[in-house]
Amino acid sequence: PPSLGIVIFHLQSQPPRVTGLPSLAPFRLTGREVLTPFPGLGTAAPAQGGAHLKQCDLLKLSRRQKQLCRREPGLAETLQDAAHLSLLECQFQFRHERWNCSLEGRTGLLKRGFKETAFLYAVSAAALTHTLARACSAGRMERCTCDDSPGLESRQAWQWGVCGDNLKYSTKFLNNFLGPKRGSKDLRARTDAHNTHVGIKAVKSGLRTTCKCHGVSGSCAVRTCWKQLSPFRETGQVLKLRYDSAVKVSSATNEALGRLELWAPARPGSPTQGPAPRPGDLVYMEDSPSFCRPSKYSPGTGGRVCSREASCSSLCCGRGYDTQSRLAAFSCHCQVQWCCYVECQQCVREELVYTCKH
Ligand SMILES: *[C@@H]1O[C@H](CO)[C@@H](O)[C@H](O)[C@H]1NC(C)=O
Repeated sequence: PPSLGIVIFHLQSQPPRVTGLPSLAPFRLTGREVLTPFPGLGTAAPAQGGAHLKQCDLLKLSRRQKQLCRREPGLAETLQDAAHLSLLECQFQFRHERWNCSLEGRTGLLKRGFKETAFLYAVSAAALTHTLARACSAGRMERCTCDDSPGLESRQAWQWGVCGDNLKYSTKFLNNFLGPKRGSKDLRARTDAHNTHVGIKAVKSGLRTTCKCHGVSGSCAVRTCWKQLSPFRETGQVLKLRYDSAVKVSSATNEALGRLELWAPARPGSPTQGPAPRPGDLVYMEDSPSFCRPSKYSPGTGGRVCSREASCSSLCCGRGYDTQSRLAAFSCHCQVQWCCYVECQQCVREELVYTCKH
């Protein structure tokens, strides 16, 4: 069966469900996208009956996953939302890299063991964990609602109209959705599973307890606390840092446990294996290609816009860049008018745009 990362990125061929989100192509990220996703859907009821079954059939899932999807109203939409979220975040985090997360028609990468593959597995697992936990608390799922961990006054929180993100349900569901732990198997399976769990953990470690005071003029006589996920942009940033410091692994059979384990390769001159990767490390098996030229892994960097001071030399891989000038409008001669707004004129100035040669 396909593992989650692959599932999620195959889903992207579906158009995004939510209108009002930036469409996938052509689009340019500014970094100000609202990634605490899907405002305005909080009150939408899960799709009813037949519509929901049909949505599950349209998704590229294994047989088992399709069954789980059919049993869980609201899940198909959540999967689509998660796919969209992980793609947006991947493209944002890699906007200055040679590989910019453009996967259209180039999914060869998902079958390899590059650092980029590791990031894709982690970010898609993280996006699904995040989106599902939010879908529960937003009332978009039939089988889960708010976080109800003991110790927090969440029952009270519920009365005050706040509802904790249900990470417990989401993680449990995801582990089941991914299938039984595939024991030893091969290095590839261990690597993917490890990176998937790095993604889930990254979401978990961003869970915060938020409190709100009630009572006479902020006296805090009553305090309500609930659990809230951090914005997905923060999780994306954490995972990008893990990508930057990803650890290359090879495998060794643990004789005592009789299963395959991940190890860093031995240092030159050292007779023993390197250390085992830490649970939070992204791990990869093979060095990445340069991504400079079109291949089955990327469209290459020809045509990419770069910054002459910062990125052109590395992004263009030494091929050089073209310079074009274009006119850009901006606000100018602004004056404060009585009372209280600012009136500006539109001016035009010349801007230079640098793009990598093909
Ligand atoms: C990624 O780069 C390619 C050119 O190499 C470009 O066509 C594509 O639009 C870029 N994608 C994003 C999301 O910026």
